[in-house]
Amino acid sequence: MIIMLMKVDPVNYREDIDRISAEYGFVREDIVEVFPHTLEDFDYWIKRFATEHHHPDSEVRFALSGKGYFEVRSQDDQWIRIEVVAGDFLILPSGIFHRFVFHEEEKGIVFLRLFQDDAPYRIYFREKEAQAKAANTTTLKTATLVH
Ligand SMILES: [Fe+2]
Repeated sequence: MIIMLMKVDPVNYREDIDRISAEYGFVREDIVEVFPHTLEDFDYWIKRFATEHHHPDSEVRFALSGKGYFEVRSQDDQWIRIEVVAGDFLILPSGIFHRFVFHEEEKGIVFLRLFQDDAPYRIYFREKEAQAKAANTTTLKTATLVH
């Protein structure tokens, strides 16, 4: 799996974004402004973004302003930090565990988000998956004991 990081002019981006969308098959986009005064339930969302998770779809983000960090898991389960500033266009393939955290000094970011279809936003948290696996293991052990 390859994480793609490109530079695009964050002001005059229309032509480049249209070209990238045609190339990668992005059919929908929107803009999210992640600031305490623009995002309802800001604290709730920030906590979710910062909790390790993955998605069944690629996460495609183009930073228009602000700063932050995507942190992704390497194959040997270490965190790799990717700083995102205005002009950074990132394609994070599906299935990679990651989280998003704010920059220490500049708490806010504006993203253009791009999507390959109309599928609803789906998020799977690593801790919950681990708990589910542990629960299944217990069930199997119990079943084994019965036999
Ligand atoms: Fe995500």
